[in-house]
Amino acid sequence: MSKVLLVDDEMTMVQMVAEMLREGGHEVFPFTNGNAAIAALETHSPELVITDLYFDKARAHGLEILQKARALNPPAVVIVITGFGSIETAVEAMKKGAYDYLEKPFKLEELKLCVQRALSYNEAISENFYLRKQLKKKYQFSQIIGSAPKMQAVFKLIERVADTDSTILILGESGTGKELVARALHFNSHRQHAPFVPINCSALPENLLESELFGHRKGAFTGAINDKQGLFQEADGGTILLDEIGSMSPTLQSRLLRVLQEREVRRVGDNTSTFVNVRVVAATNEPLEKKVRDGSFREDLYYRLNVIPIPLPSLRERIDDLPLLVAHFLKDKVNPRTGKPFQITRPAMDVLCAHGWPGNVRELENAIERAATLCEGNIIQVTDLPPSLLKNLSPEEVAALSVELSAATVTLPEIPTPALYPLNHTHDTTFLAAPESSGAQPGVPLKTFLREQEWAFLNRTMAQTGGDKEKAALLLGVSLATLYRKLSEDAPET
Ligand SMILES: Nc1ncnc2c1ncn2[C@@H]1O[C@H](COP(=O)(O)OP(=O)(O)OP(=O)(O)O)[C@@H](O)[C@H]1O
Ligand SMILES: [Mg+2]
Repeated sequence: MSKVLLVDDEMTMVQMVAEMLREGGHEVFPFTNGNAAIAALETHSPELVITDLYFDKARAHGLEILQKARALNPPAVVIVITGFGSIETAVEAMKKGAYDYLEKPFKLEELKLCVQRALSYNEAISENFYLRKQLKKKYQFSQIIGSAPKMQAVFKLIERVADTDSTILILGESGTGKELVARALHFNSHRQHAPFVPINCSALPENLLESELFGHRKGAFTGAINDKQGLFQEADGGTILLDEIGSMSPTLQSRLLRVLQEREVRRVGDNTSTFVNVRVVAATNEPLEKKVRDGSFREDLYYRLNVIPIPLPSLRERIDDLPLLVAHFLKDKVNPRTGKPFQITRPAMDVLCAHGWPGNVRELENAIERAATLCEGNIIQVTDLPPSLLKNLSPEEVAALSVELSAATVTLPEIPTPALYPLNHTHDTTFLAAPESSGAQPGVPLKTFLREQEWAFLNRTMAQTGGDKEKAALLLGVSLATLYRKLSEDAPET
């Protein structure tokens, strides 16, 4: 059954065609008025539109309906009907995307055939359209650029853990791509069709954050005028990103711990809980261990979250990736916006590479956007860069570095396509359950491999005991002192 919107100013004709379509099992929205039909396009999003070109004595309406229908729902198919045998208008309609046209008078049988063909065309197109959209979305969300070994390790880790339900802790300075990684995890997991819900835990005061996360019942506090669903429930089936987790208050930390342990949420002012199926990804730019040590972050929650840590390198640590990132921003962000291909001079690239980038990739992205906007022509040079990058240079030096334009542009590196880790991998999740079946490839030193296994196993045991070290030591069959020592060693490089 398909939804068909039908519009013609002749009532008898509308009735006849509508009846035929209903007999064919379709849901029909019949109209004799062009404006009403246009309004209905938005509400019903029909798969097929059959419209007269010349009704209301005005010529524009039919074409307007055609264009609107296609704009609102690109796979929609439109059959136009022309009353005056005007082949030019019919051709114009075809050019504007009509699927077919029929001249009045026509036999109902003719229309019926045309409808059948149009609908099977729509079916094929929709499927294709849907697939393309999905693919685009995946790529869009996975555009993580980096060829430095530390980034390769990140890609490998994402690939291994994306399609599991493990809790992930993404660690990295501001602007290193924590949210990007969280999205990549979500959109490369079986949860990709359910919501991805990010929330910044430092942006709201405690009570607001509590009702945002868990929801509230009407009347639970002053101002709670309606029942409200929390983000955990909104993310049901999908992924929640708890950004800046380190700033969560102790009360909320214990509530969160309960959600993680019991997979249930209770709204503020409610005494019953609801089961939720949500994958938790947390992110932080402050070292949580330090907060655990000074008592401002619950140790048991830390171990629950830190099951699989993904550390992101700062841009300083992978400065060799800078030209690649510059190429990416110019090609994929600046060029589509401005329609211009940009180049960059060698001295400008050198200044970029010498900067410390406290704001990491975000700061670089902004600097490139700004430079492209300010730059005259399409070659970015030193004078186009933000003043913060030039503060160690005298005006004379800046002038000297703004060389003869075309002489010294950098050949930007090719962005590997696709600039992301493979999407159709088979997910190796076994290493999460069984330490002996690691995804590590031969070539890794045995010591590294063993340390990786040990670390994963320690973390899982700590998570199981809720951070209780005595219990964990007992389970592991080691002394408490040994456990302390092992936990205080650095996490292995992945
Ligand atoms: N590896 C990368 N490749 C391409 N773009 C990146 C990369 N890392 C970060 N970016 C871009 O930098 C910007 C900041 O990234 P993101 O918001 O993910 O960082 P963050 O670590 O969450 O920052 P904050 O701590 O400030 O919230 C985004 O526009 C993102 O697209
Ligand atoms: Mg962020």
